[in-house]
Amino acid sequence: VPADDLDVTAVDHLLMTTRAVRRRLDLDRPVDPDLVVECLRLAIQAPTGSNAQGWRWVVVTDAGKRAALAELYRRAGADYLEQGRVTAEESGDPVTARVYDSAAYLRDRLEDVPVHVIPCILGRLGDSTPTVWSASFYGSIFPAVWSFQLALRSRGLGSCLTTLHLGFEAEAADVLGIPETVTQVGLIPVAHYTGETFQPAQRRPVEEITYWDGWKQSRQG
Ligand SMILES: Cc1cc2nc3c(=O)[nH]c(=O)nc-3n(C[C@H](O)[C@H](O)[C@H](O)COP(=O)(O)O)c2cc1C
Repeated sequence: VPADDLDVTAVDHLLMTTRAVRRRLDLDRPVDPDLVVECLRLAIQAPTGSNAQGWRWVVVTDAGKRAALAELYRRAGADYLEQGRVTAEESGDPVTARVYDSAAYLRDRLEDVPVHVIPCILGRLGDSTPTVWSASFYGSIFPAVWSFQLALRSRGLGSCLTTLHLGFEAEAADVLGIPETVTQVGLIPVAHYTGETFQPAQRRPVEEITYWDGWKQSRQG
């Protein structure tokens, strides 16, 4: 498709309304595996450092394995989610409170989400890997992860990037037979979404967080 034919309104709408979907995941509607493959095919158009393309994608539909992953997610995330709930309560901020409520919902229903996708990347980082290598390592998988989520959204599927199960990454690797030389970077629950559309999120004004020609400098003229 030539650039001139891009529907900017549609593209902007996609970028503005691709949300972390948890409560609106349709747990009763099966997902066609071909749709997942179609979205992954789009996702791997994303860039990777040195064009290494070390990404691997483990798509989990087996109910027993989803239950095992959900159990690991709950165990690994227990403290974090409880702490988050308390913090949200204390802060009185309704947006933060909603995020933690929603996260708790996903935690409790994760095994019922029909598809779990585990993005992986070949290799392991050492404990004190310099920023230049760690940026390139994780930077070679997360652009594809986000493209995957955008492609899902464009086809009526919702998803949410999660990382909590990585507290038990080795146990999850055992469940799925993932070798020790491979790094999992998250777990993406995938399902059709309920309802029609999504709203843009509240974010700080972009001007406030964008600096020109130097840290904290605002644009001249
Ligand atoms: C690196 C990363 C890790 C995340 N981990 C989790 C997670 O473990 N569990 C979860 O429910 N959401 C997780 N999220 C989702 C965020 O909570 C969500 O993207 C954020 O609140 C923004 O929500 P929005 O997309 O609806 O604006 C994660 C997001 C990112 C980018």
